[in-house]
Amino acid sequence: MARVKVFDTTLRDGEQSAGVNLNRLEKLEIAKQLERFGVDVMEAGFPASSQEDFEAVKEIAETVRGCSVTGLARAHHRDIDIAWEALKGGAEPRIHIFLATSPIHMTHKLKKTPEEVVETAVEAVAYAKEKFPFVQWSAEDACRSDLDFLVHIIEKVIDAGATVINLPDTVGYTTPDEYGRMFRYVREHVPNIDQVILSAHCHDDLGMAVSNSLSAIEHGARQIEGTINGIGERAGNAALEEIGVALQIRKDRYDFQTNLVLKEIKRTSDLVSRLTGMMVPGNKAVVGRNAFAHESGIHQDGVLKEATTYEIITPSMVGIDSNRMVLGKHSGRHAFKDKAKELGFDLNESKLKEAFESFKNLTGKKKEVTDEDLFAILTDTQTER
Ligand code: KIV
Ligand code: ZN
Repeated sequence: MARVKVFDTTLRDGEQSAGVNLNRLEKLEIAKQLERFGVDVMEAGFPASSQEDFEAVKEIAETVRGCSVTGLARAHHRDIDIAWEALKGGAEPRIHIFLATSPIHMTHKLKKTPEEVVETAVEAVAYAKEKFPFVQWSAEDACRSDLDFLVHIIEKVIDAGATVINLPDTVGYTTPDEYGRMFRYVREHVPNIDQVILSAHCHDDLGMAVSNSLSAIEHGARQIEGTINGIGERAGNAALEEIGVALQIRKDRYDFQTNLVLKEIKRTSDLVSRLTGMMVPGNKAVVGRNAFAHESGIHQDGVLKEATTYEIITPSMVGIDSNRMVLGKHSGRHAFKDKAKELGFDLNESKLKEAFESFKNLTGKKKEVTDEDLFAILTDTQTER
């Protein structure tokens, strides 16, 4: 089974979410949890962007020893030097240099010709390689770049010493088949590609970040990048917990292994949500409040008979105690009886019928009936003569 490395960028791309601002201690707390979650690489920040970020990256690199810590840098000597000062005390110093390769970025943002971009990238990678044993280079906006230009620049940066080549879908524009084809093309056309690990980095503007990442893995990516809860610029990055669970649940389709400790998912998600202030939507895959909640009578009845009828993921796999039977207007007698038992009531059939009717009346007024509501109904019914 092929191994896929997990590169977490919650503390860098994730922190670029509008409205998120983590301080040094908050970043350190998340970093320690990411280490427990089993990520292979964590991008702790962008050291040249501020003194605060520099200090946070440095402290994380010196504290976290169980995985590689990296920091982002533009293709400038100054950024690379500052990144080295922040990362040199790490267990496995690694730098992440990026430079845009799409015509739109080269013309309007960088104001450089393609050959100048090649020169800048090669020079920066070679300079970084004098210090760092691991150099990742990212072709920013790879998905809107010319494929043959990508092939050309990738060959050159590998010769300059890059150890990982990342092909980011910076603006969340690609589709699974297109992204997969790009990886295949690069593997087939870059002559020295076997010297590096190929990495995928997807944004979720069209809601395809996770699917695109899985497609990249199928076409040769051996590192995937993302964030916890999918936080990040604009619509966010690929959600790592979703990729980890998809690879596990669909082993029949994906013959790949990560080092992730899936049981740490819930704890990691809760911590990131609390410290960033970014609420997890109720219907979010894997970690949303409703991801293991069953409301309709038919589903509840099925799950009570055999959980796999409507549950493809066991809650305990991701560190959640149990599924939730939400009693609402679609719920049936089976789930109601089960809940009554759980709350300590053993009513005879006629009392149960009476209580169920009161419960149904209440669902006309309330969307979700709480345990407290049920307790009151059941107590009333039990004590009525
Ligand atoms: O989305 C992107 O292109 C990035 C790069 C810095 C890798 O985050
Ligand atoms: Zn990004």
